[in-house]
Amino acid sequence: MTDFERATAVEAALSKLDLDAKARLLGGQDMWSLPALPEIGLGSLVMSDGPIGVRGVRWTADDPSVALPSPTALAATWDPSLARRAGHLLAQEARRKGVHVLLAPTVNLHRSPLGGRHFEAYSEDPLLTGAIGTGYVAGVQAGGVGTTVKHFVANDAETERFTVNNIVGERALRELYLAPFEAIVKNAHPWGIMAAYNSVNGHTMTEHRYLQNEVLRGEWGFDGYIVSDWMAARDTVGDILGGLDVAMPGPGTVYGEALAAAVRDGLVEESVLDEAVRNVLRLAARVGILDSAPAAVAEADRPAGIDGDALAREIARRSFVLVRNEGAALPLGGDRIGKVALIGTAAREARVLGGGSAQVFPDHVTSPLDGLTAALPQGALTYSVGADPSDELAAAGEGFDLRAICRDAGGQVIGTSTVPGGQVQWMGNDLPDGVTHDALFSVEVTGTFTPRESGAHHFGTRGLGGFRLVVDGQVVYDGEQGMGPETDPFEAFFGAPVERGQVTLEAGRAVEVSLFYVVLKIEDIPIKAIAFSLVHGGPRRDPDELIAEAVEAARAADTAIVVVATTERVESEGFDRQDLRLPGRQDDLVRAVAAANPNTVVVVNSGSPVELPWRGDVAAVLLSWFPGQEAGAALADVLLGAEEPGGRLPSTWPVAFEDVPVTQVTPVNGELSYDEGVFIGYRAWDRAGRTPAYPFGHGLGYTDWAYESIDVDPAATTARVRLRNAGSRRGREVVQLYVAPLGLSDTVERPARWLAGFASVELDPGATAEVVIDLPRRAFQIWDESARDWATVAGDYAVEAARSVADRRVTAAVRVGGRPSA
Ligand code: BGC
Repeated sequence: MTDFERATAVEAALSKLDLDAKARLLGGQDMWSLPALPEIGLGSLVMSDGPIGVRGVRWTADDPSVALPSPTALAATWDPSLARRAGHLLAQEARRKGVHVLLAPTVNLHRSPLGGRHFEAYSEDPLLTGAIGTGYVAGVQAGGVGTTVKHFVANDAETERFTVNNIVGERALRELYLAPFEAIVKNAHPWGIMAAYNSVNGHTMTEHRYLQNEVLRGEWGFDGYIVSDWMAARDTVGDILGGLDVAMPGPGTVYGEALAAAVRDGLVEESVLDEAVRNVLRLAARVGILDSAPAAVAEADRPAGIDGDALAREIARRSFVLVRNEGAALPLGGDRIGKVALIGTAAREARVLGGGSAQVFPDHVTSPLDGLTAALPQGALTYSVGADPSDELAAAGEGFDLRAICRDAGGQVIGTSTVPGGQVQWMGNDLPDGVTHDALFSVEVTGTFTPRESGAHHFGTRGLGGFRLVVDGQVVYDGEQGMGPETDPFEAFFGAPVERGQVTLEAGRAVEVSLFYVVLKIEDIPIKAIAFSLVHGGPRRDPDELIAEAVEAARAADTAIVVVATTERVESEGFDRQDLRLPGRQDDLVRAVAAANPNTVVVVNSGSPVELPWRGDVAAVLLSWFPGQEAGAALADVLLGAEEPGGRLPSTWPVAFEDVPVTQVTPVNGELSYDEGVFIGYRAWDRAGRTPAYPFGHGLGYTDWAYESIDVDPAATTARVRLRNAGSRRGREVVQLYVAPLGLSDTVERPARWLAGFASVELDPGATAEVVIDLPRRAFQIWDESARDWATVAGDYAVEAARSVADRRVTAAVRVGGRPSA
């Protein structure tokens, strides 16, 4: 179908709607959808998070989704075509769940490693972010499902996220923060963009006329819909004039009736509202829910039959970054395997995804323990906990058999439900059959718990409201958790669990458990949600004893594999990180194990950088990110050498937090100044003259590479790089191209070098290839703040082909613009 035909259908539909219907269409009808308008053959548009899976409209493990590795992992593959295949799978998942638009990808930048949602964004580099995002968007939309590239723009940290005013210079905005959005809009034509919570230079993003209307739509030609981040829209007139098409969630929004009234009162021209409706109808047509217009992608053309497990495993192994491998400690292969001591809480309870709205519920997770048990000969593997990174209580999963009973104020049962993990998360109208928000007074989570171990078990609650917790006949807690003026409304979902007490229990003896919850009714809240959980922790062991046990196991083995990890309290949404340390006693554990066994391999299970103070004392370090549901299978593939760890760092990993050039995430008087200008990530490390633990682009793989030559054409549009697999096994190399200005310009300050392109190649040992990489014009341009336009900076440049920003192998000189700069 052509754009013209679609536009005709959209106009015809628009002309049939009255003002009230149009205004209603622009506000959410519930948590995730827009109203249907049967009079014009329009179905209800359903949106869902995003980005590593499609949760669907229900926030529960009862409705599982494939969980792919974290966005940082996807970026570590440096492979836009793999991102595209991830998109195909996500579109398939979306269609399975009746979702039309995915609220993803997240393409904010890794400005500070403290950013709480760092795991959910791709990289510190705008070019890499834009390339991965382009692949992802193209892949999802090839499946007939829309994307919502988020969060537009400069939502790079979480502290005071609803109100922070980010002060960002025009050059940094254009060259860094807007750049991925620009690349994706121009190359993949996303059908949606999400306006961020924060302000940029004094204007809240949902109302930002300049960035939304002039830059995004005007300059870049974006023709999709702009949706607010959830609860970000605050001003009917400001939002609609600022270019915001849809206010989510509902039913209480600043659009709907308020918007119709604003038109009637003459505050907003009806033509402005029509434009927003047009954007929504165009989206509806594209995803196939406007009867008069065929979908953008015919059913027969949508990729289908994709195996989620296989793809999750492939992306995971391609994303793992081998940052250290002394004496070719990895892969463990053949006779060298011997006895393996696997150590670490996360080896058994794998942390496969980050927290917050990015959370999905996979129907199974292959932990490192599962993966290695399946891959190693029987009896070769021992497991010990070593250290528990969390002293917090977790979901009431293992050993619990629970259900939820809903009652009205008179105590009558009005409905029941399953409660996987003891977590009740019912949003909008996603309530058990027969239950309404008005009638619901209390929810009782009740059933049995059969402990795995004897000892003092810890119980607690998460959420806001009144609680009465009874375990084995003992009242553990009876009280209320209120909502303060500063409480983040998402606290009930993402907040810390609170321990309420302990009960001594015997292994194998089932006891009764009941958590009675009285719903907290909050007036004027746009989202009606019932969210609370029962949380539990087993008997606590002496941390020194746990380490000693692991050391014993390591000593008795040929190889020790320690899996260290962050927790949900460290990497999630709604708050930033405090430091980059691994939580708990994990550093002590690694040091002790490394002292006992020289063949110690550490697997780092985190979505973003952590300090690895012992990294020089261990044989190998493998970064596995949040590896998705096939974590352990991919890990076994890579550790045992069936596959190569294919990843390269998408962001710099520091030795210590103190070394990081840009860290600030806490606003001062409501403002966060991006004082560093265009110097973030490796650009900032270079300027500061500091050496990180592992530089941007670094990653070893299992073979060696010789770079033989580089040629750049005189017009500086393409580079040809010859390289050879100089090692002894087949491998894949990511050839990175950096551009470095030669000589100083007295007019503009520029980074020492920046990424200008990349490509990968897979070769047998001894084989040679020539890789051709385009050099975009933009690589030689800056944003000229006085001209308010892109300007080519004439002069001499080195074009460097590299294995990382710090490991540059071959260089060519080019002259751009005919004359050298001043
Ligand atoms: C997040 C968005 C997400 C939305 C809906 C917000 O809190 O910032 O990324 O899409 O919630 O879950």
